[in-house]
Amino acid sequence: MDKNKPFVGGIVYQIYPRSFKDSNGDGIGDLPGIVSKLDYVKSLGIDIIWLSPVYPTPNADFGYDISDYKAINPELGTMEDMDRLILEARKRGIRIVMDLVVNHTSDEHPWFLASKDPNSPYHDYYIYKRGKKPGVPPNNWSSNFGGPAWEYIPELDEWYLHLFSKKQPDLNWRNPKVLEEVESILRFWLDKGIYGFRCDVINQIYKESFDDGKWKPWLIGQEHYLMKEGNHLILKRLHDDVFAHYDCMTVGETYDVDFENAKRFLDGELDLVFQFDTMNADKFIVPIFVRKHWQPAFKKSLIGWEGAVDWNAVYLENHDQKRSVSRFGSPGFHSLSAKMLGTLLLTLRGTPFIYQGEEIGMVDYPLFKKKEYQDPVNFWLYGLLRRIGFSDNRCLKFVDNMNRDHARIPMQWDETAAAGFSSNQATWLPVHPNHREINVAKEEIDGESILNYYRKLIALRKKDGALTYGSFEPVKTNSRIFAFYRRYEGKTRFVLLNLTARKVGLPKQIRSLRGEVLLSNYEGAGLTYKKFLRPYEALIAEIR
Ligand code: NOJ
Repeated sequence: MDKNKPFVGGIVYQIYPRSFKDSNGDGIGDLPGIVSKLDYVKSLGIDIIWLSPVYPTPNADFGYDISDYKAINPELGTMEDMDRLILEARKRGIRIVMDLVVNHTSDEHPWFLASKDPNSPYHDYYIYKRGKKPGVPPNNWSSNFGGPAWEYIPELDEWYLHLFSKKQPDLNWRNPKVLEEVESILRFWLDKGIYGFRCDVINQIYKESFDDGKWKPWLIGQEHYLMKEGNHLILKRLHDDVFAHYDCMTVGETYDVDFENAKRFLDGELDLVFQFDTMNADKFIVPIFVRKHWQPAFKKSLIGWEGAVDWNAVYLENHDQKRSVSRFGSPGFHSLSAKMLGTLLLTLRGTPFIYQGEEIGMVDYPLFKKKEYQDPVNFWLYGLLRRIGFSDNRCLKFVDNMNRDHARIPMQWDETAAAGFSSNQATWLPVHPNHREINVAKEEIDGESILNYYRKLIALRKKDGALTYGSFEPVKTNSRIFAFYRRYEGKTRFVLLNLTARKVGLPKQIRSLRGEVLLSNYEGAGLTYKKFLRPYEALIAEIR
């Protein structure tokens, strides 16, 4: 841990631009909208904003399919708007991190269009292979977005690889030209003054072999491309060639990363990685099935990761996940459970990432209807489940368990028709009907709101060396309770959380603690002589 790095003492706020704030009334969020809310972001105590992709895109995956890496999506604004965002953020002491999506491009990127000519140098920018035999793809790999990972191009009699949708062809990282192109993209943005990148699915960019994968119900082929030696070598190269020469940070989205690979990524390749174990705590292998009793896996994952690496990213939400209050909290205890989860996020050791709306306790949308879907994964999954024979209602429910649209509905600014997100009621995803109860304006004026609790949490963490830099020392308890110490320079903080909606008794070693509560989601909560925790009770105490 290097205390001089801004991301070490800092807090990151993720913005999904399409859904944050619309300034021109087209129902889609945009860059001027973000600029208009920078004072709000600043008022939370945020140091760094991570912007989900803002590049031109045909929106097959809402920006995660890029057709030009050095320009701005006209739906979101112009390059001048982007420059202004960087500048206005800087004035407020906020740095901007962009999304780097280089496992694949859009199929409408000029490189891919040119690649369809077998004699073009761009042909080798992508992964084209002959089929095993006529009509049969080169191997049995499956795509993250359903179906086979290969698409046939009759004119070439070749198939191209796409680990996501067929509109997202994978780049060929064995071609040194691809590395050169990406380095030029990185320098372009870093020279503009951005503070680094969140690197999309960065642990699968290097395909080591193209053999068939072992059969699994989900994602066949991963053993041939997840976290291979070549992957580490590429990241080291990008680091040494580019990142090492800038004041910047990198955070890798590293699906299924294990401790061993994370240690390598964090040693001279990337600054932080997103682990997925916590996000999988409430899921079975096929993620349409969810686990009600998620607490043991949840705690195990966090304790494991805190122990395994010195410093890392911590998060409970992003644009790919359902809302944390809906997963790990409960509607009956909305405010208490949102505050409990916030307490956890902001007291773990590592750089906290808050996702837009998390700080006001936004929850999942009520069951989405098929006609409301935007995420392409939903259409595929719904169709597949229908073909298997499930009823319409059953399909909607299964899809709901992993529907990324939940996190992408408009940010709830106020109680007006489109939640203050847009002047247009036809927003690209529907506004949550609960925006009249849960919104920024209402929470601003309520001293006990989730929003103001987040502000207190962030302020407390920032002024407190132990909560920021302290060691992480978990206390053994049953899985309903999460308790840990943070110690630093002679100071001890104790964090105590009830992960459930039930009252739980405290074990002896906690009952005997004496300390002063610095912050809690229950008014007047104390630690000394405490015998039990109330539903979702959370407290941070100073131990004397
Ligand atoms: C991970 C991103 O977070 C997700 O939104 C996207 O669909 C895939 N990578 C593909 O880029």
